[in-house]
Amino acid sequence: MRKINTAVLVSGGGTNLQALLDAERKGQLPHAHISVVISNKKDAYALERAKNAGVEAIALSKKRLGGQEGFERALLEALNERGIELIVLAGFLSILSADFTARYPHRILNIHPSLIPSFCGEGFYGLKVHEAALSRGVKLTGATVHFVNEIPDGGEILLQKAVRILKGDTPEVLQRRVMEQAEWKLLPRAVEMTAKALCTKASNA
Ligand code: GAR
Repeated sequence: MRKINTAVLVSGGGTNLQALLDAERKGQLPHAHISVVISNKKDAYALERAKNAGVEAIALSKKRLGGQEGFERALLEALNERGIELIVLAGFLSILSADFTARYPHRILNIHPSLIPSFCGEGFYGLKVHEAALSRGVKLTGATVHFVNEIPDGGEILLQKAVRILKGDTPEVLQRRVMEQAEWKLLPRAVEMTAKALCTKASNA
C-alpha cells in the first residue's frame, strides 16, 4: 500500500515526535511513513529520538543560513529532495512564512497545547500557553491539531480534546497532563486521518 512521505519538524524535547514514531512502529499509521525529522535547533533532543528510531535527522540553523529566508530555502530543498508530501509541526517553535505555507495547502499539521481559539497565536508556545491558561483561571484546557496557513494557529481545526485543570496545577504539571491525555493521542490520529485522505485523493486523481 502507498504511504504518504512525511517530515516532522521539531525544536525541542520531541515527546510528540516520539508518539508518532511509536504509533508508526505499532502499525497505527498505515498510510504514513516518517522519513525525516528536521530541527531548527541543533541540540534538540528530538533529533536523538529520530536517530534512535532509525529515522534521518537534520538540523538547520537559521543563523548560519542567514535568517528566515535562507532557513526556509534550505528547508524546501530538503523536503523536495526527499519527495515530502506531508509536514507535521510537532513542537516546532518557529513561525513559517506565508510564502512557505502557501506551497503546502492542507499539507502542514500543527499541534497546539490549548483549545484554539484560546491562548494561541504569536507568543503562545510551550509552557507560556499553560501559564496563560492558569493565570486566566479557566477550568478546562486541552490540545488542538490544525492545518497550518499564513495565520499563526489560524488554520482549519482537525481535532481537539479537552483536559481538566486541577487545583494546585503548576504550568509544568498541566503541560504534562495535556500531553498525556490529549497531544500524544491526537497527533498520531490526525496524521493518519490526513495521510489516508491524501492517499484516497491520489488514487481518485
Ligand atoms: C508541545 O506541548 C506542543 O504542543 C507545543 O510545544 C510542546 C513541544 O513538546 N507546541 C506549541 O506550543 C506550538 N505553538 P515536545 O517537543 O515534547 O513535543
